[in-house]
Amino acid sequence: MKIFHTVNGLRDDLIQDRLQGLKIGFVPTMGNLHDGHLALLHQANQTNDIVVCSIFVNALQFGLNEDWDKYPRTYESDCEKLRAAGCDYLFHPDDVEMYPNGLDTQSRVICPTMTDVLCGASRPGHFEGVTTVVSKLFNIVQPDEAIFGIKDYQQLAVIRRMAEDLCMPIQITSAPIHREADGLAMSSRNRYITEDERPQATVLKESLDWIASQIRSGNRAFSELEAEATVQIERAGFAVDYVTCSNSKTLDLAADDDSEITVLGAMFTESARLIDNVSISEE
Ligand code: PAJ
Repeated sequence: MKIFHTVNGLRDDLIQDRLQGLKIGFVPTMGNLHDGHLALLHQANQTNDIVVCSIFVNALQFGLNEDWDKYPRTYESDCEKLRAAGCDYLFHPDDVEMYPNGLDTQSRVICPTMTDVLCGASRPGHFEGVTTVVSKLFNIVQPDEAIFGIKDYQQLAVIRRMAEDLCMPIQITSAPIHREADGLAMSSRNRYITEDERPQATVLKESLDWIASQIRSGNRAFSELEAEATVQIERAGFAVDYVTCSNSKTLDLAADDDSEITVLGAMFTESARLIDNVSISEE
C-alpha cells in the first residue's frame, strides 16, 4: 500500500493509473477503522482495479461542542488493517493540506432541505462539512466509484443527491450495515458507551425493526409508531433524538402512498449519540 500525505503526490500516481485505463474505487473515512469500514474496502476491491482510502478527521463537519478533539485517531493500526484489506493507496492529509486557506473562508457545498432534518436538525452545519470535504476528496481522487455505508443513511442520501445535482461523474455505491453479534451497528463512537449501558444499546435497532415490521404488516400510523418506539427506547434508559419514518429517497416525512420507506433513529447514551436505520420496500 502506498501512503500519500499530499494532494499532488496522490494525483501523480492516479494520473498514471487512469492513463492505463484502470478503474478507481474510493472509500472516504475518518479512520479508527472497524470491520464495517473494511467491508467497504472489500466491496470496492470487487469492482475496481485500484482502491483508494482516505483518512481525515474533518473539523468542518464537527460542531463546536462535538468530539473532534477526542475522536479516536489510530493511524498505525488503521494502516495495518488497510494493507490486509487490499487497499492500494491511502490518502492521509493534514488540516493544512485539506484547508490551506483555513476553515472560515473555505468555499462550501450546500445540499439544502434534506440536510435540515434528522441528524441535520440536531447537528447544524454537519452535512455542509461532509458535502464540502467529500466534494474536495472527489476532486482530488476523481474516482469512477465511491462507496458509502448505509449505516449513515442520511449522509448517503445527501451525497447521492449532491452527485446528481452537481453532475459529478462518479457512481455512488452503498454498502450494508455491519453489526456486532447482538445487532448494534458498528461505529467508532461505540467506545463511548459504558459497560452498564452496552447490553441495552441494541434497543435502538430493535425499536426501528419493530416499526418496520408494523409497516410491513400494513400499519401506516407513522406518528403513533414513532411515539411507541420512543417509549421503548426511553424505557431502556436512553434519551431519544429522533425516530422518524421517511421517504427513502427524499427523506421527507413518509407519506401514506410511499412504497420505499426508511425508518431512522438517533439516541443518546450518557456520552455517545448512536444512529441506526432500517429500510422497507414494498412491491
Ligand atoms: P466514517 O464515520 O469514518 O465512515 C466512513 C464510511 O464507513 C462511511 O461511508 C460510513 O457510512 C461507513 N460505515 C461506518 N460504520 C459502518 C458500519 N457499521 N457498516 C457499514 N458502513 C459503515 O462517514 C464518515 O466517516 C465521514 O462523514 C466522511 C464520509 C469520511 C466525510 O468526512
